[in-house]
Amino acid sequence: TIRHFLDIWPLESAELRAILDQAHAMKKARAGWPKGKIDAGAPLDGHTLAMIFEKSSTRTRFSFDMAMRQLGGSSITATSNDMQLGRGETVEDTAKVLSRFVDAVMIRANDHADVEAFADAASVPVINGLTDRSHPCQIMADLMTLEEHGLTLRGARLAWVGDGNNVCASFIHAAPKFGFSLAVGTPKRFAPDEDDLEIAAELQGRIDLYETAEEAVAGADVVIADTFVSMGDVDAERRLEILDPYAVTEELMELAAGGAKFLHCLPAHRGEEVDAEVIDGPASLVFDEAENRLHAQKAILRWCLGK
Ligand code: CP
Ligand code: NVA
Repeated sequence: TIRHFLDIWPLESAELRAILDQAHAMKKARAGWPKGKIDAGAPLDGHTLAMIFEKSSTRTRFSFDMAMRQLGGSSITATSNDMQLGRGETVEDTAKVLSRFVDAVMIRANDHADVEAFADAASVPVINGLTDRSHPCQIMADLMTLEEHGLTLRGARLAWVGDGNNVCASFIHAAPKFGFSLAVGTPKRFAPDEDDLEIAAELQGRIDLYETAEEAVAGADVVIADTFVSMGDVDAERRLEILDPYAVTEELMELAAGGAKFLHCLPAHRGEEVDAEVIDGPASLVFDEAENRLHAQKAILRWCLGK
């Protein structure tokens, strides 16, 4: 079977654990490595990743490209508008054609169903680089970052506040796999999708829903925020108004456990979902989090390609 990385929930806990362990090990090995050299053994020598973007990206694009280079391989990037995909060629035909050229494909898509259809038609591994429904690569980097800063995931209390969006969904999927609990504080209308809550419930995950940020953050080891207006959202004004009470401020952080950490996948909007004092303050891990996209994805790519 082809090892797609479309979401966290279909993978076994042990596989996910092994990916994170490899990510930590590769980051450590790289720290003592001469700059400008590919990794020892060039594990993906001669391999090429195709990347298709239907929406903007800074971190995902550069981290996947650098991941392939450090592993001894290469990547080809296109926006869907550069491709015949943008003129109506089907997802399935595109998947079949790219499978004849490259060793793996990463896609950032508007519609999660398109990534699933692509994977079904492809004969090479497909990686979800963010959809309207989830962002699994981000959560692997986030969990790696928390471990690096001394947090034991099993039994840890994570709190998500704001919009119950795609990034939140991947945290919901990860909670039962890594054994942390997730408290989610959102207004009712921006609560997480039922489907994602059902996935976590089936896996015996502990997800607690609240209607205020204060309740969700109380006693948490980690506070997590994301933009109030995701790519593709068309109701920006209404969102900013309804979500304003869910902003992460220094006062909100006071309610968390002592020494609680702050995560945000970036890009951030200071003064909207988070205050500058928090994201640029001592609790914030956001730039380690961004860096770890590289290390976590190197491990994901090796898992996908069995290398
Ligand atoms: N966090 C994240 O996925 O960033 P980009 O949109 O810049 O890729
Ligand atoms: N929720 C955000 C994450 C961006 C990395 C979005 O989908 O736009």
